[in-house]
Amino acid sequence: MVKRQSVSKSQFWEEKYIQGNTPWDIGSTAPAFVKYFSNILKKYPYADIPTQRVAVLGCGRGHDAFYFAKNKKLQFDVYGFDFSKGAIKYCNEIKEKNKIKNIQFIQKDFFKLIDEQKWKSKFDYVIEHTSFCAINPKGRKKYIQLLKNVLKPGGKVVGLFFMRPKEMGGPPYGIEPALLRELFNKDFTEINKLHPVKCLHGEKLSGKEWFGIFAKKHKNG
Ligand SMILES: C[S@@+](CC[C@H](N)C(=O)[O-])C[C@H]1O[C@@H](n2cnc3c(N)ncnc32)[C@H](O)[C@@H]1O
Repeated sequence: MVKRQSVSKSQFWEEKYIQGNTPWDIGSTAPAFVKYFSNILKKYPYADIPTQRVAVLGCGRGHDAFYFAKNKKLQFDVYGFDFSKGAIKYCNEIKEKNKIKNIQFIQKDFFKLIDEQKWKSKFDYVIEHTSFCAINPKGRKKYIQLLKNVLKPGGKVVGLFFMRPKEMGGPPYGIEPALLRELFNKDFTEINKLHPVKCLHGEKLSGKEWFGIFAKKHKNG
């Protein structure tokens, strides 16, 4: 059984990358993100979309982050955060090799963004994919605070969340939909209702990965 405190340390994840023990890594962008953003592109003509900033928290090997950066129609500036040195090194190598300019990888504990003024209200989107379920459940309120801090008013958390009816240890640490909604409720509006999507993390987790979008409320909204 993994001690909850250990998942808050970069060393825990670093070792997983070194050992090649990365069962969460599907080796590509999550299809739910591709579907959501492809639909946005269908709705709006290319020229109408201004450049937007996207944060991928706990970006791992960057499969999601690179999708956003490489899709020129989206015109996104992408920031990938992860405290694993190995994961960030891997991402930077891919970035250099492919000469991708509109992406930055930052090796940092993402909770530190809360205290740094430069990230306040900086992003239009935060992409959530197996990061919320990777943290110690005791840090969940702080994670929501982090999302609130870094997003602009109206900014969106586009997320894939790991659902499980009761806490059974982890990582991944599952959560119930009602509890997740409760956490978001005060500062966010659920604009795309949480629903299960096809899970590429293997049969065992089938039906437990849910897609949803939460928009940060405007101050008086
Ligand atoms: C389960 S992996 C998911 C990686 C990636 N999102 C993916 O789907 O492939 C969780 C990632 O979050 C990173 N992580 C966990 N806690 C973190 C923290 N407090 N600050 C920064 N990165 C963190 C880990 O290093 C790891 O790369």
